[in-house]
Amino acid sequence: MKLNKTLSVAALAAAILATSCGGSGSKTETSTPAPAATAPAQQELSPEERHKDNPDFAAGLALVKQNDCPSCHMVDRKIVGPSYNDVSDKYELTAANVEKLASHVITGNVGVWGEIPMPAHPSLSKEDAELMVTYVLLLKK
Ligand code: HEC
Repeated sequence: MKLNKTLSVAALAAAILATSCGGSGSKTETSTPAPAATAPAQQELSPEERHKDNPDFAAGLALVKQNDCPSCHMVDRKIVGPSYNDVSDKYELTAANVEKLASHVITGNVGVWGEIPMPAHPSLSKEDAELMVTYVLLLKK
């Protein structure tokens, strides 16, 4: 008898718990607007996905990998030089900026990001340097 009573109390408690959980669960569901859930997903597309139709992005990335840039630059972390993300935050993608930054890569530069100089890359063509800078500036979010 005593055991049966305890069991039924436990069953009742479980039933109440189940009901209250079910109630709050369906409430969360209806209050989540569908458009808000899809908007952030689009912003989270990787730069590769966002620029998959832009040949300059792929060409610039390939050139960066073929050159010594990765020994001093990473996309999302400062190592010797600033991260590409920081560079793309600082400069808009304009013809004037691409030309200026490409000339900094070719002739070397110091003082924009700190005391460490970027060495000159005299063997790079202006075209290739501009493609690499274009790739970097396309990383802007
Ligand atoms: C030996 C290290 C080193 C290498 C190799 C290197 N960089 Fe840099 N880079 C730096 C440093 C340090 C700076 C910051 C210079 C400054 O403060 O003016 C910099 C700055 C830059 C900037 C920003 C320039 C500005 O004026 O804001 C770009 C763009 C850049 N590098 C691209 C490249 C590319 C492309 C390559 C490969 C061809 C490359 N870097 C190779 C060290 C390096």
